[in-house]
Amino acid sequence: MVALKSKRELALMQQAGQLLARCHQEISKLVVPGITTLEIDQFVEQFLKENGATAEQKGYKGYPYATCASINDEICHGFPRKTPLQTGDIVTIDMVVNLNGGLADSAWSYAVGKATPDVRRLLEVTEAALYKGIEQAQEGQRSGDIGWAIQSYVEAEGFSVVRDFTGHGIGPTIHEPPQIPHFGQKGKGVKLKEGMVLTIEPMVNKGKWSAKLDENGWTARTTDGEWSAQYEHTLAITKDGPLILTSQPAEQIE
Ligand code: MF3
Ligand code: CO
Repeated sequence: MVALKSKRELALMQQAGQLLARCHQEISKLVVPGITTLEIDQFVEQFLKENGATAEQKGYKGYPYATCASINDEICHGFPRKTPLQTGDIVTIDMVVNLNGGLADSAWSYAVGKATPDVRRLLEVTEAALYKGIEQAQEGQRSGDIGWAIQSYVEAEGFSVVRDFTGHGIGPTIHEPPQIPHFGQKGKGVKLKEGMVLTIEPMVNKGKWSAKLDENGWTARTTDGEWSAQYEHTLAITKDGPLILTSQPAEQIE
């Protein structure tokens, strides 16, 4: 069963989402050559604390950090670490904010310093793919419509979509049904209803879509060593279409 959220739950999730969006804005200013992902992780913990929130990922199924920080060929669930970021790198920062029990999940990829044209295109296509998916997040549409829209766009651009990780329902825990694959067939899958809150989070690879897991049991990276990017929003299905909860400004839920 997919739980539908009350207005009160949606308002809490939106407040968490808006704080998360502000946190990403701050990170975008911090991402310069020489900074480490461990420093970014510490900044996030401090920022959330100052704003009365907590990092829901820390301790989730034993995950040890506030953020996932995935560099270059790492697809997702990278561990923050002490290696300085270098000009030309891609780093994806993913986090789940808990503010007064409301959860929100959002990832952005950042270019470090001046991006090469290849990197810039990968980032642009990945972000656009997220919005292709969000467009389909309408009441009465199905999860397969989202996956199809993302996959067909990304593959037409000459990239591939990771299949091992999906978007998901969220609240009261990070991962709730339904799964939202970023590939698939129109008209298939779960029917979307008003009050569902979902993440859409395409991971797009420059090369092949296949992934392998590091020895830490968490970090996924591309099998061919090509680079990967990801953008993720949390959104609510409403009568008036998708309402993104992790960006600002959004329509305010009272
Ligand atoms: N934010 C991640 C997602 O989109 C959650 C990863 S679980 C963690 O699903 F434990 F790695 F944090
Ligand atoms: Co997610």
